Amino acid sequence: MHTNTHPTATILHCSLLFFLLLLLPLVPPSGADVGTAASYGPPYLPTVCFGDDRIPIPTDNLFAAAGEGIWNNGASCGRQYMVRCMSSTGRACLDGDAVVQVKVVDRASMLNTIPSANGTTMVLSGAAFRMIADISAQDINIEFAQV
Ligand SMILES: *[C@@H]1O[C@H](CO)[C@@H](O)[C@H](O)[C@H]1NC(C)=O
Repeated sequence: MHTNTHPTATILHCSLLFFLLLLLPLVPPSGADVGTAASYGPPYLPTVCFGDDRIPIPTDNLFAAAGEGIWNNGASCGRQYMVRCMSSTGRACLDGDAVVQVKVVDRASMLNTIPSANGTTMVLSGAAFRMIADISAQDINIEFAQV
């Protein structure tokens, strides 16, 4: 059988497709953002997500304080985020595709305990951080999406 397609062109198309498939896992799913997360310890006494719409500390201890980038003038209070550990120095991310869902209960710049790192996108409660990474890490790179 005679075909019009030049063999070299076919190989070129196949390797291009292969290359694109290799790159796919590196692209975050749509709707997710990338950022950083630190952790903080007790006593957990949120003061800014307060007032009539006070956010109680979730009983599962999975919560976070919002960094300035997502604080949104307090609108972030009570929002829930899915957070995944992407990478870190010292391979702190837990194996597998560990994710944690946290509720925003405070503002990162107003915490009454010192976070493990300053200026992160969010600061996770110790329990939440431990769900996705080694607690001894100062900060981790995360992928997060509001749910
Ligand atoms: C974060 O900032 C606070 C207040 O300035 C400081 O006490 C603390 O040492 C800083 N933490 C880190 C990890 O740099």
